[in-house]
Amino acid sequence: MNNSEIKINKAIDDLSTKLKDLDLENLSISDYNKRYLKDYIDKLSFFMPLYKTLLEKVIRNLQKPVSESCFVDYGGGCGVLTYLAVELGFKKVIYNDIYEVSTKDVKVISSAINLKVDYFITGDISDFISYITKNNIKVDHMCSFDVLEHIYDLEGWFLEIKKLPKPFSLCFMTSANSSNPNINRKLKKIHYKAEYVGSKKKKGWKERDSNLPFLEIRKRLLAKEFSNLDEKKITILAKTTRGLYGKDIINYAKKQLEENHFKEYTKHPTNTCDPLTGNWAEHIIDIKNLKNRIENKQTTVRFTNNFYSESSNKILNFPKKVINFLMKILGEQNLFLSPSYTLEIQYKES
Ligand SMILES: C[S@@+](CC[C@H](N)C(=O)[O-])C[C@H]1O[C@@H](n2cnc3c(N)ncnc32)[C@H](O)[C@@H]1O
Repeated sequence: MNNSEIKINKAIDDLSTKLKDLDLENLSISDYNKRYLKDYIDKLSFFMPLYKTLLEKVIRNLQKPVSESCFVDYGGGCGVLTYLAVELGFKKVIYNDIYEVSTKDVKVISSAINLKVDYFITGDISDFISYITKNNIKVDHMCSFDVLEHIYDLEGWFLEIKKLPKPFSLCFMTSANSSNPNINRKLKKIHYKAEYVGSKKKKGWKERDSNLPFLEIRKRLLAKEFSNLDEKKITILAKTTRGLYGKDIINYAKKQLEENHFKEYTKHPTNTCDPLTGNWAEHIIDIKNLKNRIENKQTTVRFTNNFYSESSNKILNFPKKVINFLMKILGEQNLFLSPSYTLEIQYKES
């Protein structure tokens, strides 16, 4: 075991103890984050090895020691990666999420477990960049776990992030790995459900997320905007605007009506996003295309695989061991068998 592995293991052990001791039920946080964090606490042996893999990749991408580096948990949710980064001893730790409820909750949780988070930033990438710029913060590493597949405008996101002072690195891990055919099938089922079926509101539901089928929401938005159109035309527009949100839905519909040409906005057959927030339902990202758009002389981009985490279940561990072994042979950039992938980027000084 190398030095950073020992440190990560210790951070995981220390945080796991604190989380298990936490009186979650009596914390003054949302039901959503109570449910979310409880799920993590109940499955620590599943989630912690995933965070461990991610943090190992973070450390190998860092230009400076952990104790001199500023770490960002982008889209931090209930904050587990943030707490781990504090435990690991990063010089500064920044928590971000687009959902204000989570930012408020993580302030409460981090103080309950006695871990000092340096900055809390609510908002999307533009809010993040303006906060960082205004406060003159030097970011060394941007990290996220299961966020990439939810960001509405990926191209715009990567244009914004380039505004940070270089050098810095980025590691975004996501389980929406469509290069694995089994996962690809599951992701498409999730798209189908979001687009046509919807979901029920239950205790701990994230208030930001829509319950109605996305197609139905787009129909209602379009019917309100274009009250002169018949239902057939509205349905056509609702279908062709899949993958868009808010004003983008209306603008794309207007363009189609003006040109009298109706074509699906997205080329992907199932990808869909929440029409009220832009949050993708597990976006299947064209990673080759994304790499081509980001990579240049100063920016290196890699998509790397991750191993299956083993549990106490010996029967289930056997196939995982076999697949992990095969993945080692196939090499780090082969995503076919992988349960997830990590986007690793180095932004170098020009
Ligand atoms: C699946 S959750 C993952 C949460 C957390 N990273 C974890 O490890 O549990 C996705 C998170 O990303 C946040 N999010 C989605 N789009 C975002 C964006 N454009 N900017 C910042 N946060 C975003 C959501 O609010 C949510 O908390």
